[in-house]
Amino acid sequence: MNAHRPLTAVYPGSFDPITKGHEDIARRCLRIADQVLVAVAHTATQKKTSLFDVEERVAMNAAVFADEPRISCVSFSGLLVDYCKGVGAHLVIRGLRAVSDFEYEFQMAQMNQELWDDFETVFLTPDVDYSFLSASLVREVARLGGDVSTFVSPLVRDRLDEVFRSQR
Ligand code: PNS
Repeated sequence: MNAHRPLTAVYPGSFDPITKGHEDIARRCLRIADQVLVAVAHTATQKKTSLFDVEERVAMNAAVFADEPRISCVSFSGLLVDYCKGVGAHLVIRGLRAVSDFEYEFQMAQMNQELWDDFETVFLTPDVDYSFLSASLVREVARLGGDVSTFVSPLVRDRLDEVFRSQR
């Protein structure tokens, strides 16, 4: 019989910035994994320019999950599968909000499985309150002076305010 080893899940993404939807998914993940690595990617599959640099995104994530010892906040570069192999994680979590997410997520999951056969992607759905929420929409609302308090934690809202106030 196998001794129980702690099950580590990696929750990768751009997190630019972390939203309450991301936070909800990471906390839900603790229902199936013993520990979760919230991993900011240096290299996103879809070409994007980021608002916050990777170090600041990791720091914001760490502040958001400061109350939860089973969640660690890290970054990785290169292929996700290589990062997962390095930390001994066979399980990746992704959030699925709507059918529109499905094609991209399905392609990534299958590509990752081609790259490493011992790799599983599990999709979690966020609380319905966050099903419309995306980091790109949060950035846009904040850039145009809207209130994003219900979509992100106070520390992220304050940083968004600072960044966009200095640009106005
Ligand atoms: O939040 P995002 O931008 O949808 O996250 C996408 C992410 C970071 C999970 C994806 O771009 C990724 O895994 N990047 C690492 C590079 C990699 O492994 N690419 C091949 C994936 S099929």
